[in-house]
Amino acid sequence: MEKEVVIITGGAGYIGGTTAERFARSGKQVIIFDINRERVEEVASRIGAKGMVVNITDYREVTAAVEQVIAEFGKVDILVNAAGGSARSRMKRFADQDMEVIRDVIDMNLYGCLNCTRAIIPSMISRKSGVIVNISSAVALGGIAGCVDYGASKGAIIAATKGLAIELGQDNIRVNCVCPGKVQRPAEQPADPHAFAYKHSYLNYIATADDVADLVEFLASSKARYITGQNYVIDGGRSLGLRGDVNRTDS
Ligand SMILES: NC(=O)c1ccc[n+]([C@@H]2O[C@H](COP(=O)([O-])OP(=O)(O)OC[C@H]3O[C@@H](n4cnc5c(N)ncnc54)[C@H](O)[C@@H]3O)[C@@H](O)[C@H]2O)c1
Repeated sequence: MEKEVVIITGGAGYIGGTTAERFARSGKQVIIFDINRERVEEVASRIGAKGMVVNITDYREVTAAVEQVIAEFGKVDILVNAAGGSARSRMKRFADQDMEVIRDVIDMNLYGCLNCTRAIIPSMISRKSGVIVNISSAVALGGIAGCVDYGASKGAIIAATKGLAIELGQDNIRVNCVCPGKVQRPAEQPADPHAFAYKHSYLNYIATADDVADLVEFLASSKARYITGQNYVIDGGRSLGLRGDVNRTDS
């Protein structure tokens, strides 16, 4: 059977890399678009994928990379928009934040996703087949201090997912979104894992990239063939709100 062709942006990172490995193991042809040259080559050769150094904020660079993929593999069946992140070390209260940082965050998260989607969907439309999974964030649902730009860009991805699903359903293209809460990297183990899990989840642990990859894999598969335009929150229930206390008598 013909191999499915998957492009994963940010595939050199934690969630993207884990998802890329999952797809490669299940026999798909995986292509990673990532700006980190060293990591993209390392991950691609480890999992048997094709690694391409692509800055997804540059639409021309993205279209050239997509053309190269289609010339080599003939099609793109699945796009996973996983590249992104907050301002990290440059994070500040919005009132003090530099406009340059705000633009960078929105560029990477929102325009990165839109650029890749815009460059790939014409080929999906002409084949009347395709699946897109966008990685947003639970920050888009509730907001968080220091991440106004990030939350805004991730919220826009949820909205774009819905509009795209409406436009592309007639072409047999499904578009869904995933909103992870805190995802625990193996290298970032907290001093008190129980307290950390209590803070970030209503389950007794913090998600790993594998938990997110399970959901992405499902949404990209034919098992999700009737699902489009949806946003899936994967945060151990954290976005439900206050935990409450059954022993309290004052509320
Ligand atoms: N880790 C979490 O707790 C968490 C929670 C919610 C949502 N998310 C989202 O999940 C996605 C993956 O996060 P992660 O934790 O794996 O982060 P990560 O930093 O490990 O991976 C992100 C990848 O994106 C790549 N990238 C950044 N800018 C790029 C650009 N301009 N062009 C191409 N590639 C670029 C990076 O090089 C990196 O490999 C992100 O969209 C993030 O916002 C993460």
